[in-house]
Amino acid sequence: MCGIVAYLGERDAYHVVLKGLKRLEYRGYDSAGIAISADDQLKLFKKKGNVSDLESFIEGKDLSGGAAIGHTRWATHGEPTDNNAHPHLSSDGSLAIIHNGIIENYSSIKQELINKGHVFKSDTDSEVAIHFIEDIQKNNHCALDEAVRIALTKIVGAYAIVIADKHDPDLLIAARKGSPLVIGVGKGEYFLASDATPIVEYTNEVVYLNDYEIAVLRKSGMILKNIEDVQTNPYVQTIDLELDAIEKGGYKHFMLKEIFEQPKSIQDALRGRLNAAKGDLALGGIRDYVNRIVSADRIIILACGTSWHAGLVAEYFFEDWCRVPVEVEYASEFRYRNPIVREGDVIIAISQSGETADTLAAIELAKAKGGIIFGVVNAVGSSIARATHVGAYIHAGPEIGVASTKAFTSQVTVLSMIAMIVAYKKGTISQTRYHELLAELETIPSKVEKALELSEESEKIARMFSDATNFLYLGRGYNFPVALEGALKLKEISYIHAEGYPAAEMKHGPIALIDEEMPVVFIATRDSSYDKIVSNIQEVKARKGKVIAIVTEGDVLIPKIADYVIEVPVTNEALMPLVSVIPLQLLSYYIADIRGCNVDQPRNLAKSVTVE
Ligand code: M6R
Repeated sequence: MCGIVAYLGERDAYHVVLKGLKRLEYRGYDSAGIAISADDQLKLFKKKGNVSDLESFIEGKDLSGGAAIGHTRWATHGEPTDNNAHPHLSSDGSLAIIHNGIIENYSSIKQELINKGHVFKSDTDSEVAIHFIEDIQKNNHCALDEAVRIALTKIVGAYAIVIADKHDPDLLIAARKGSPLVIGVGKGEYFLASDATPIVEYTNEVVYLNDYEIAVLRKSGMILKNIEDVQTNPYVQTIDLELDAIEKGGYKHFMLKEIFEQPKSIQDALRGRLNAAKGDLALGGIRDYVNRIVSADRIIILACGTSWHAGLVAEYFFEDWCRVPVEVEYASEFRYRNPIVREGDVIIAISQSGETADTLAAIELAKAKGGIIFGVVNAVGSSIARATHVGAYIHAGPEIGVASTKAFTSQVTVLSMIAMIVAYKKGTISQTRYHELLAELETIPSKVEKALELSEESEKIARMFSDATNFLYLGRGYNFPVALEGALKLKEISYIHAEGYPAAEMKHGPIALIDEEMPVVFIATRDSSYDKIVSNIQEVKARKGKVIAIVTEGDVLIPKIADYVIEVPVTNEALMPLVSVIPLQLLSYYIADIRGCNVDQPRNLAKSVTVE
């Protein structure tokens, strides 16, 4: 959570940082601020609200200067207020800090500083950090980077920080542990940010800071060292990220753009990996480790939110095709449960952002217990990508809308490929079935395209139900995780209460909720449980519920019973989640938009959940 951006160089630092904050606003948007270091002063502007509120507040002020730090916040310590917004200043006002993460031992440090006479203006842990650094610098009469280093040996928690010094406008100091930080390397200039999106329009040369590394940046060059004070060599990488991938490209919202990108993003997940005509399927990233899954006694899948739903779909793949038991775990529960990880278990961690704190901690725990960890990650070079032993990127491109859409379908695509490879090697599916699956998977991008052509149907239904207060989503088998995903999409962006259930569970409780006011979305495509789900639809209709059904093209039965239907193309039952989720993504998008919700930045949420 929180986005941090900083710049040092000859450009107008304020504009670079402000633009960067707009790109990172998906990470947090309850308050924002900028500090510019110039002329022996720190010009500080911060405001509750989003980055445009800050921009209007700043208009007309003197914003000159070649070094600036900026922050867009998702509150952890202290409510969203002007005072709690970053940057925070040290006691004498000569240092400013931006921070993403949580300092767990901040209250004991704060008490010590209060005893020494420090007065705090905010409720944040971040302000404590900068007072602490200033205190060390003054007491030890040392350089700022040394004070930062000493402070970090005492600070417990997660941080990505950047510090500016009003007496030295040619200096920025950055450090990270647990929260992401990328340094863009230009000619005589540096760009720092929580991810590469604010950087790519200036340079594609980047250094991903490692945990416990401190970067001392001057226009003349960069020094990297760790908190043991040992210098390290910056590893400069070239990233492949196009500017249009992070812009809306004519769509009203990033979410809508990302929904419509899915034929391409799924194709990108398949590219170079699948050639059905030749019977080829290979994932280079996991090739050397695939036998570990082939011989696994059990697979444990770790993830949160939508990625967890993709993991549930994968559970069906691995059990159905590979005949291996699978447990799909919420990373947040797994990490605190003293879980059993045995030799012979394989762990698959799934994450779009690659920065989710709970997933990262669960991975570290599973690793410590001797597990071998496979990553299925979108963000290249992210913490989870680096923490796993081996992995396959999903190549969905930047996902900026807070509601995950294209990452889900790309995760399911990659997980299906892993399961197909394993099943083939294990001999748990026939040659014929294997080749049928390859051929079918290759058709998915065009089937998703077709499902998207019916977006108007979802929009029409959205208009009918935009005032509903509750929704129920029901599905069976492979479509059960899709029901959960549909419900999550709706509640997170439209604030309508929605629940996903296995359709058969309805009669064990949720059926009590059904009356003429209750819209029930059935994911009722033609598959092995079709007859059963038809009966469930009848049960809802008998209680006057309003049924919206996602059906397979050509279905003649359900349209006679349901109130509204949306058709999707025919595909293999196992691959249906890739297609049946599309109308649900569209339905929630249109409902949220009609209700006037902030679709890309829903309240209280952030794209990358780097706090537990
Ligand atoms: O980046 P990750 O995939 O690890 O994120 C996991 C969840 O935070 C994420 O899927 C969240 O549930 C989304 N807002 C869902 O749309």
